[in-house]
Amino acid sequence: ARLPELLARMPKAELHIHIEGSLEPELMFKMARRNGVSLPYASVDELRRAYDFSNLQSFLDIYYAGASVLLHEQDFYDVAWAYLQRAQADNVLRAELFFDPQTHTARGVAMETVIGGLHRACEDARTQLGVDAALILCFLRHLSEDDAFETLEAALPYRDQFIGVGLDSSEVGHPPEKFARVFARCRELGLHLVAHAGEEGPPAYVWSALDVLKVERIDHGVQSAKDPALMKRLAQDGIALTVCPLSNLKLCVFPKLAEHNIRTLLDAGLKVTINSDDPAYFGGYVNTNFLQTFEATGLTATHAWQLARNSFEASFMDAAGKARCL
Ligand code: HPA
Ligand code: ZN
Repeated sequence: ARLPELLARMPKAELHIHIEGSLEPELMFKMARRNGVSLPYASVDELRRAYDFSNLQSFLDIYYAGASVLLHEQDFYDVAWAYLQRAQADNVLRAELFFDPQTHTARGVAMETVIGGLHRACEDARTQLGVDAALILCFLRHLSEDDAFETLEAALPYRDQFIGVGLDSSEVGHPPEKFARVFARCRELGLHLVAHAGEEGPPAYVWSALDVLKVERIDHGVQSAKDPALMKRLAQDGIALTVCPLSNLKLCVFPKLAEHNIRTLLDAGLKVTINSDDPAYFGGYVNTNFLQTFEATGLTATHAWQLARNSFEASFMDAAGKARCL
């Protein structure tokens, strides 16, 4: 079969998707209208034209503004359900969804509303779409560790509705070690641990995500290629990198997709996966990320199978779930 068909049709897991980043402009405007929230853009077209980012922060400013339309349990359900339908269409068998509760609780939305709506969509995805979906709660790293502790406390009544915690938002100036104590607590609680590191930040942030936070996967991690000792560590320990090529392109981490270092990472034996990050903002869902990356970098069918296998191996499914997919 042709490579594009293989990429589209092969079963895969998506491990790096921010559910607030899957909010398409059309749904955003619909929610703004029904919730009486005003957006600083007159139309869907005007909003889309604002999606011209120069770095991570220029994106985050617009992303947090967009998330302000999410108020009710049904809103959280609807955004997750829309993503999960797209995931099914891309032959995603397993999806691990990041969510940013602090973005919502800071506006007065209850934790129960956020997790309740997202979790109900995940349950419906299993029964109605055949997509196995789970939630990972992310702490915003531009806020304090005390704020993260309060967020964890507020989420613990719903402990059975999320499988782990992550760390996202503005990376540079907010190193992983800022969250050492809260991650240690999450580890005691048996939560899975991941963190964004080495997206814009230096290899030192990847080292501290591993050695201080003790994360199981690194989100992005593309800056690791600057540090040969780190590359060796990631390979030896089988630490997965959840790489998001179109995100890296849109946020100017690489000037062109053809210059993305994914092939270097794969050839070094790292457990690389391909993911969409914030598909509504970065120009495509997971299959578009696969297609455009393969086209630009010349990856082959062998790489495709490796990436798909990596995605299941690096997922937080139990052994039986992995066996079903692999
Ligand atoms: N990096 C950091 N924080 C984020 C991202 C990202 O790519 N997407 C949504 N929040
Ligand atoms: Zn991300």
